[in-house]
Amino acid sequence: MKLTKRMQTIANLVNKNEKVIDIGTDHAYVPIYLYLNNITHDITATDISKKALENAYNSLKKYNLENNIKLILSDGFKDIKENYDVAIISGMGAHTIINILNNQILPKKIIIESNNDHYLVRKYLNKINYKLEKEYVILDNKKYYIIMYYINYNEELTEEELILGKHNNKEYFDYLIEKYSILIEKTQNKEYLKYLKLLKKYRSRL
Ligand SMILES: C[S@@+](CC[C@H](N)C(=O)[O-])C[C@H]1O[C@@H](n2cnc3c(N)ncnc32)[C@H](O)[C@@H]1O
Repeated sequence: MKLTKRMQTIANLVNKNEKVIDIGTDHAYVPIYLYLNNITHDITATDISKKALENAYNSLKKYNLENNIKLILSDGFKDIKENYDVAIISGMGAHTIINILNNQILPKKIIIESNNDHYLVRKYLNKINYKLEKEYVILDNKKYYIIMYYINYNEELTEEELILGKHNNKEYFDYLIEKYSILIEKTQNKEYLKYLKLLKKYRSRL
């Protein structure tokens, strides 16, 4: 099975034999890839939606893995009884991700790919003492994705790091500079202007 660049980047962050939970799995492609490539065989895939879990089951069946990868219907960690080494939470919005992470016993490592508001995600993870160990910007099918790898560890990010993250992908910064320049022309929004200045300052250092 061949993963998209976004999903491959996520899968690459899982280490050999780690016990993995993929929350909001839908098609279950990352769990299947991890299993078939012998990265780990200890995998649980969950979803809040019955329909999505059916998708996952159908994918597992296609690869004869329906008895090898556990499927659980659950809102985030609510119905999850076991502990895991690493959680994958990808393809959801920031608020959903933060709700999932709220008030739970969490794994030491968390891989996050949020659809939006990365500032909020970084701020929340910082607050609950997770260190932004690595961050990747992936251009996949003409869309940028930010993949964050967190480890439970006390780290204070600066305000700049909360806004911009810790990656140094020049193309992504150029893309944002262009996008916000256009938006400012249209809206004259002062917050965007502040953000644009910060982006330009940071970009000039790379
Ligand atoms: C766009 S899909 C992403 C699928 C896959 N994780 C990926 O990255 O390609 C988002 C999935 O998250 C599920 N989801 C949304 N909120 C959830 C929650 N609180 N707990 C578990 N799954 C959730 C949805 O049902 C949906 O199947």
